[in-house]
Amino acid sequence: MPDIELEEEVLGKAYDPRLARRIFKLALPHKREIVITVIFMLIASAADLARPYILRLAIDKALFFKDLPKLITYGIFYLVCIGMSSLFSGLQSYFMTRMGETIVLNLRNDLFAHLQMLDLSFHNREKVGRMISRLTSDIDAILELISSGITTIIGDGFVLLGIIVLLMSMNLTLTGLTFLLLPILFLMSFEFRKRMRDIYRLVRISISIVTGNFAESMAGIKVTKVFARFKESAENFYRLTQNSLEAVMKSVRLASIYFPAVELISACGTALILWYGGTKVIEGVITIGTLVAFLNYLGRFFGPIQDLTNIYNILQSAMAGAERVFGILDIEPKIKDAPDAVDVEYIEGRIDFEHIYFGYEPDRMILEDFNLHIEPSEKIGIAGPTGAGKTSITNLLLRFYQPQRGRILIDGIDLQKISNRSLRKLIAVVPQEPFIFSGTILENIRFGRLDATVEEVERACELACLGNLLSRLPRGLYTELGERGAGISVGEKQLISIARAILADPRILILDEATSNIDTETEKLIQIALQRLMEGRTSIVIAHRLSTIREMDRIIVIQDGKITEMGTHEELLRNGGLYSHLVEISERG
Ligand SMILES: Nc1ncnc2c1ncn2[C@@H]1O[C@H](COP(=O)(O)OP(=O)(O)OP(=O)(O)O)[C@@H](O)[C@H]1O
Ligand SMILES: [Mg+2]
Repeated sequence: MPDIELEEEVLGKAYDPRLARRIFKLALPHKREIVITVIFMLIASAADLARPYILRLAIDKALFFKDLPKLITYGIFYLVCIGMSSLFSGLQSYFMTRMGETIVLNLRNDLFAHLQMLDLSFHNREKVGRMISRLTSDIDAILELISSGITTIIGDGFVLLGIIVLLMSMNLTLTGLTFLLLPILFLMSFEFRKRMRDIYRLVRISISIVTGNFAESMAGIKVTKVFARFKESAENFYRLTQNSLEAVMKSVRLASIYFPAVELISACGTALILWYGGTKVIEGVITIGTLVAFLNYLGRFFGPIQDLTNIYNILQSAMAGAERVFGILDIEPKIKDAPDAVDVEYIEGRIDFEHIYFGYEPDRMILEDFNLHIEPSEKIGIAGPTGAGKTSITNLLLRFYQPQRGRILIDGIDLQKISNRSLRKLIAVVPQEPFIFSGTILENIRFGRLDATVEEVERACELACLGNLLSRLPRGLYTELGERGAGISVGEKQLISIARAILADPRILILDEATSNIDTETEKLIQIALQRLMEGRTSIVIAHRLSTIREMDRIIVIQDGKITEMGTHEELLRNGGLYSHLVEISERG
């Protein structure tokens, strides 16, 4: 796991024109807002910069001459400046945040939609945790560049330049003296940022290791309990949190040296200006107002410098984030509709597998020259040892994967020529591992057909033999199910899955029987529900309990990706092959 996390944190170049252009493109539709934001920011900064200058005038032109009306005028000016700077910085941050969040929202939705489009082979490879960090921290890094990057470069640049020009207009030597401090502050700040970034990387890595371990521990809580591994588990977790504490302490130590040091240097700067400037005031070279203004501007130097030294980090993180986010967005789904794909509304339900060669990885073939012809409304049972390739056959029919060679036809139409949307309506699956989303039972069943009425869902439940379960639950159909269907049994999940398929009312049905043991009662229920579901449809039933497929029109036995036996239950029994052997074992057991 640490390797993966490290890979997550790889930072590349701080500036990549190609990526920068794409980030810029994201912001382009908002150019009006950007212009407004920048104008507001400039007004706010200018109003802020004017304040020490007004102070100077108030001291030199009003206080010095004991001119009260003038003093009041300057006071009002000063207030107006504060008001303007608050108002416009508020407006600026509102528009900026709104723009940034809109960009992020769109990007996040694009990424989500794209991930859903991508092939299963992609999702098999990618870890969910990684995709979550694409969706969160990587996109946040881009956001930070778009929002605070603009403020930093334009706003802080303007403020620094403004201060320098104003200082020079007041007194050159004093300005020179102030500048002595600048490089020190700049270097310190830069060094601090750089070290802090490395430490934060460590912190993030250690935290993600902790959360990863936590997620896995919670998912595997049953195994931990079964093997009574609480102590080891807790010790391991303690060690990881300890690492994370050490990483955090590093950053705390660095910060507790840096900030006081900066304070100290700023104070030295103030003392220097006070001493030198004070001497000049006494000598009558500069006015008290000028000295006060200098000290005031000095205090305003630091913020922009800090921000500017951070721009490198922001850029680099944004580029790394953008590279990964765009990297995913650029992956083309391998399985997509052919340009001449058509919507197929109705089919009889004939299926032909013709010379199919398929492997999840090209160098490990699962199916080799697989052929199977299924008549409309025929019921096919598939049996065979585990790992033989039974589920893989249905994965191909569903177009989750693309065979390397050969073709699959539905009613004589090549699968590739049928639009994905319509294919999904033609075939329904009761998968080997039924997936239940968190939500009510009603919502879960309605997943089969979103516009189904409650009555239709109820009828589907009845056909799927869910009546028993529903009457036991006080809230019936409206019972909330936990994540992945926590709170109901595997058999019940399968029944819900069957109800979903009944509601979808497909022409072709695939049932991949769960391997887990189900009591004879539930097995009977599933059997009845299945009979009803298969009625009048082309059905492919993969069975682990051979009793499920006894009555099928035809049974095929698959071994090592090839059909080794084919016929009715009786024919296969007479053949005396693997099938009859398996039946014998199951009847004896
Ligand atoms: N996503 C995948 N990526 C790589 N290999 C896979 C994948 N899914 C399955 N396989 C491999 O393909 C082979 C066939 O798997 P398949 O799921 O079709 O078997 P099965 O006949 O359905 O087995 P079971 O009876 O256990 O459900 C197995 O050797 C399996 O390891
Ligand atoms: Mg399987």
